[in-house]
Amino acid sequence: MKIGRNDKCWCGSGKKYKQCHMSFDNRIKDYRSRGYQVPNHSMIRTAEQIEGIREAGKKNTMVLDYITPFVKEGVSTGELDRLIENYTREIGCIPACLGYQGYPKTVCISIDEVVCHGIPSDDRILESGQIVNVDCTTIYNGYYGDASRMFCIGDVSEEKRKLVRVTKECLDLAVEATKPWGTMGDMGYVCNKHAVENGFTIVREIGGHGCGVHFHEDPWVNHIGQPDQGILFVPGMTFTIEPMVNMGKADVYEDEKDGWTIRTVDGQPSAQWEYTLLVTEDGTEILSY
Ligand code: MF3
Ligand code: CO
Ligand code: CO
Repeated sequence: MKIGRNDKCWCGSGKKYKQCHMSFDNRIKDYRSRGYQVPNHSMIRTAEQIEGIREAGKKNTMVLDYITPFVKEGVSTGELDRLIENYTREIGCIPACLGYQGYPKTVCISIDEVVCHGIPSDDRILESGQIVNVDCTTIYNGYYGDASRMFCIGDVSEEKRKLVRVTKECLDLAVEATKPWGTMGDMGYVCNKHAVENGFTIVREIGGHGCGVHFHEDPWVNHIGQPDQGILFVPGMTFTIEPMVNMGKADVYEDEKDGWTIRTVDGQPSAQWEYTLLVTEDGTEILSY
């Protein structure tokens, strides 16, 4: 349906369309006519939604800050999961992963060759030499924040430390390359380039995702791309960037027994860092880290 110039804007601001998102929509239309893939309105957040997602993102960051000192040699991943669930509820939030498509725990904890979606267990004890990802998603007032961090346990090899560092650099470069009226391909290009230049590979099958109003929503975020290709980024989009970087080959597979755990085919280690971010008028704002 077409909105008239004097109708209320679709964004819920209460303003007339011509005084709100009309020129914005025309700019998007112009890109579309030039062959760009463009976001639809459901991918663009209203001011109220942005405020809600910002608060949820802060809570999710608080959860990761809280668990950081506990991620040490000798602790079980099951115990870390319990600590996170209790703290999440204590600060008035709901763990998003628990029960999500049948997922059994509050967080994902992925060790070494586990790429992502590792299921916490009382039998998995963190050991010196491991690299570990803790991925946490929190719901607050109905909005979502999603982020993950890597931890080096005890005495970790130089090679694995480099993998962890380069993966973080991939994320930071990707964030820098994320610009309003730029494309997802601009972002994916620099992200993948940095991994490859360091002798590593980026996982292709799993990507980031729109996030904030729902857990996983459009667009799907590819960490590999070509400049000026892929969906257009515009102010008001919120999504995750979460590159998974493998030391060896890029190929991964899903554990058929638990239906969740993703591992590298060659058994070599993998690292991941994740932020939720907002595209602003002049750059990005990191909503959860
Ligand atoms: N937090 C993960 C992500 O970054 C998703 C985990 S889904 C779960 O998208 F069900 F495995 F928890
Ligand atoms: Co996540
Ligand atoms: Co995510």
